[in-house]
Parts: sequence; C-alpha cells; structure tokens
Amino acid sequence: MKVTLFGTGYVGLVTGTCLAEMGNRVLCVDVDAGKVARLKNGEVPIFEPGLSPMVKRNFESGRLDFTTQAEPAVHHGEVIFIAVGTPPDEDGSADLRYVLEVARSIGQHLDRYAVVVNKSTVPVGTADKVRATIAQALAERGAVIPFDVVSNPEFLKEGDAVEDCLRPDRIVIGSSSERATQVLRKLYAPFNRNHDRTVVMDERSAELTKYAANAMLATKISFMNEIANIAERVGADVEQVRRGIGSDPRIGYHFIYPGCGYGGSCFPKDVQALERTARTVDYDARLLGAVEAVNHAQKGKLFELIERHYGGALKGKTVALWGLAFKPNTDDMREASSRRLMEQLWAAGAKVRAFDPEARAETTRIYGERADLTLCEDAYEALDGADVLAIVTEWKAFRAPDFARIRDVLKDPAVFDGRNLYDPAQVEDMGLAYYGIGRGRSLASVPVPSAAMLRPAATA
Ligand code: UDX
Repeated sequence: MKVTLFGTGYVGLVTGTCLAEMGNRVLCVDVDAGKVARLKNGEVPIFEPGLSPMVKRNFESGRLDFTTQAEPAVHHGEVIFIAVGTPPDEDGSADLRYVLEVARSIGQHLDRYAVVVNKSTVPVGTADKVRATIAQALAERGAVIPFDVVSNPEFLKEGDAVEDCLRPDRIVIGSSSERATQVLRKLYAPFNRNHDRTVVMDERSAELTKYAANAMLATKISFMNEIANIAERVGADVEQVRRGIGSDPRIGYHFIYPGCGYGGSCFPKDVQALERTARTVDYDARLLGAVEAVNHAQKGKLFELIERHYGGALKGKTVALWGLAFKPNTDDMREASSRRLMEQLWAAGAKVRAFDPEARAETTRIYGERADLTLCEDAYEALDGADVLAIVTEWKAFRAPDFARIRDVLKDPAVFDGRNLYDPAQVEDMGLAYYGIGRGRSLASVPVPSAAMLRPAATA
C-alpha cells in the first residue's frame, strides 16, 4: 500500500520504517530540511537498536523515502499518518498546533479518498478537531473529497521500538468508518500473522486507551516507589516485597521496579495531560496527581541520600554518575532522573563526573560545557577523583561492576544505587557503604538474593 507519514520523530520514523519493511511504499515528510537530507543519506538521528540498518535497507530498495514537500506526500498516501510532536504547553496540556497544521495541509492538498490516521498521543476529542480542520481546508478550496480520520495510538517503548512495532501486543483502531477500518486492517495484516491483535473501538476510546495505558504503568511505578519509601522507614526491603507481590499474577512482575523515578517522553507528559483533560471536564483526577507528585519527589531521592550521607556538606564534593539517559538502550534525556540529580548537586556546589554509553552527546547539547560536569568515555574513568558513585540508569554494563576497583578508586567508598541493581550485603562485604531505594538497613544482615539476577531483562 502507499503510505504517507508526517513527522520523522521517534514514532514516525519507526512506524514508517516498519511499514516499509512489510512491503509498503512509505513517504515520510518532515519540515526539518536538514533532518530529511541526513535521513536520505542514511543517517538516523536517534539511537534505537535495529533501526539504522532497516532505514538504510528500505531506503535503498525504494520502499522508504523522505521529503519536506507536503503536497506530493498527501497525493502519495492512501493512508496518511500524523505522527508529529504534541509537546506539553505551559499548563501541561498537549499542544496540538503541529497536529492541526498537518491536518490543514492535508485538507489543502487532498485529491482523492484517504484515511488520515492520528498516531501522535493526542487528547480525547482530537480526531474530531483533525476532521474539522481538514473539512475546513477542503471547503476553502471548494473541494468535495471524502476522507476518514482514525485514531491509532502507538505503544512503542524506546530501546525496543522496532521490536514493539513489528510484533505489537495490540493494534488499537479507533474508527467510526467501516471503510477506514478495512483499510487499516489490510495495512496491519502482516503484523497480525499468528492471531488477530486488532482492537477496534470508537475514536475517543482509542485516544483515552493510550493515556490510560501509560497512566496505569506510571501508577504502578509510583506505587512501588511509595512502598519503597515506607519500607525504608519501617526497616523492610522493598526488593523482597516486590518479589512477594509480583508472584501474584493479578499484580505481575512488570513495572513494579522501584527507583529514582520514571522519565522519558511519555509517562511524565501523558500523566499530566490526562490530569488536565480530567480537569477540563470537571473531574479532579486525584490519583494521577499523586502519581505525578510521588515521581517528582522520587527524582530527588538520590540527592537526598547523598546529602544525608554528608550531613548537607556537599560543596567541593565530586559525584561519579553512571547513567544519564532516562532508561537503558536510548540516548534520550527527556525528563531523565539524572538531570534532576546533576542540577541538585551543582546547586549544592558539588561536581559531577558522568558516564553513559549513549547519552553523552545529548548531555552536552542540553548543558553545554561546564566546569562542574566532566563527561567520561568509560565507567571507571568517571570514578577518578570522585568521592562517591551514584547509579541512575540500569544499563547492562553497570550490573556486575568490579566493586574492589570502585572501592579503591573512590575517595569515600559509597554506592548510591538508584535502580536497586546490587545486593547490599555483597557491596558492603567489599568494603563500600551501600544506599539503595527502599532497602531497610535493619535487614542488612539477612542475605538478599541479587536483584540484578532476578530482574527479567524485558523490563529493564
Ligand atoms: C513508555 C511505555 O512503556 C510505552 O508503552 C509507551 O508507548 C511510551 O511510554 P518508554 O517511555 O519508552 O515507554 O519507557 P519505559 O520502558 O516504559 O520506561 C519509562 C520510565 O519508567 C523509565 O524512566 C524507567 O526507568 C522507569 N521504570 C520502568 C521504573 O522506574 N520502574 C519500572 O518498573 C519500569
């Protein structure tokens, strides 16, 4: 099929490339001419496992192409995806400006029936706004051309996006048109080989499904962080509690890892946006507000532990920091917990020596060169001249470090484990002080199986 995709950001580029991989002819549009030129040159602007070779392969075979021109792109697609950004505006609501600009441009150039698909995460009711915007642009040209608008949210995880896209666990189609539903069923048929994963519903329910999924996952994390904070105070170990509750299939092991807070482009933004949506319909979403508040506090947790360790005297200290990205296998720093920690440390007069396998360039882009930040090429290099070590992102490379080496290099051997990667007893046996999230110190004498060993890789 012929497919057009507006927006070559994370979602657009991954979706477009996977659709091309399945044999469709995909044209991706972006207003950023530099980005389009780089993509045509085989340069993929984001770090996502498996994406780069797939873009190259499909571009070279002619199934995937990039342009800045809206008009030929609208003429190309039987299915036209809108996958542009919806950044939060000042009050946390999703800003629909880019989505509606694309809708307008579709209305200006549409020349025959097409299915317009909202892929961006958009507030409930956006399908109606997109429909009205296209209709208005068509009316301005005096054109009468049929079209449908469908909501088809994505559920891609950064770091696993290609895999998630090729093997989705569900394909949500929010559509009130049978014709459009059939077009999308045909497009997604190759992704549905073993059993049908399509869930067809109305547009508003599809739009809400996306927010509900992310809010549910964020709630699980904040809930666990709350339990961790209680565990810390009552002398229990949240890692044992986690295994105790996860074994109940109604609760499950996924997304109950306590830590120094969730980040990324989705959870923080979507929880806030859903809360705002609720407010616009006179509902006070108290639970969502609490999820957000717990996460905000949790992002300050590592700083709080380090500050307490030094009785508040952080001026002149140097903290080695492992992990800058908001999670492993990405270079994305949006809402990353590392940012809060670094900013708090700098404000307290401390210095940071940081290492991340992928996010160093992104860190420089955000913070520039500064005297109190040294970006290192290697995890152990970050320890040179540092007082203590803090782990913020659970990259695999950090899971089984050489504790003897850490102990010997740090001036004040202490590990602040923001993702509960290590067994506290093992670290302490090596002669380091250990601070985790919600690991009551009264249990330090009880042998604790290594959390890293028990952690399923898929939820990293
Ligand atoms: C998320 C959703 O998982 C995905 O379905 C949706 O389409 C987009 O948002 P993503 O933002 O890529 O994906 O990351 P995810 O793997 O979900 O992690 C989000 C954050 O939660 C990370 O900062 C991670 O460290 C944190 N997290 C995750 C926890 O703190 N504990 C957990 O148990 C799981």
